[in-house]
Amino acid sequence: MDFSELTEKTRSYRRFREERTISAGKLRKMISMAGMAPCASNLQRLRFSIVTDKKERSALFSGIGWAGYLADWDGPEPGKRPSAYIVIHAPEEHKFFTGIDVGIAASYMVLAASAEGIGSCMLLNFEKGAVDSIAPAEGYTVKLVIAFGYPGETVKLEKDSEKIRYWRDEKGVHHVPKLPSDSIILKG
Ligand SMILES: Cc1cc2nc3c(=O)[nH]c(=O)nc-3n(C[C@H](O)[C@H](O)[C@H](O)COP(=O)(O)O)c2cc1C
Repeated sequence: MDFSELTEKTRSYRRFREERTISAGKLRKMISMAGMAPCASNLQRLRFSIVTDKKERSALFSGIGWAGYLADWDGPEPGKRPSAYIVIHAPEEHKFFTGIDVGIAASYMVLAASAEGIGSCMLLNFEKGAVDSIAPAEGYTVKLVIAFGYPGETVKLEKDSEKIRYWRDEKGVHHVPKLPSDSIILKG
């Protein structure tokens, strides 16, 4: 698969085959990919926690806000939930570039996952207290949670769309619109 195919395939998945576990080796490999990512001044300030325990997943799940545009959907039902999460922590001491580092590291992880046939969803809408109780990290604050699992839904990329809001059709297919490339290039 070339890189453009990989980026097209790397969509946000919110329904998974929950019974299919992701090996610790694969999850640790994704983190090692994140560790290869560029970061400001090469400070490598980010830290990562893996959550796979069933009770911990359940506690984390209850604090997550899924798919804001799908107003009448409360998130994946039992059996369709993520089989793993990776939490990204950054030092409490704020630096203006932290969010950039987090975004790049997260991108590396979701691309690495996708290359292995694993779906993911970055999550900013999470309950901080729940994450802190499951994956405590003194001196650090939680910046992003990423859900992982083998895909349990079809996600269709809608290229060259003028829409922003994703939607789900009557067959349950999730559609993700993306603007035409020409419309996002300001110069050149
Ligand atoms: C920083 C960030 C935060 C996000 N937070 C959430 C979230 O809390 N809940 C959710 O269901 N999706 C979340 N998403 C997923 C976006 O909704 C998704 O990326 C967007 O709809 C485009 O779909 P795509 O990832 O398939 O291109 C987040 C994505 C990013 C990059």
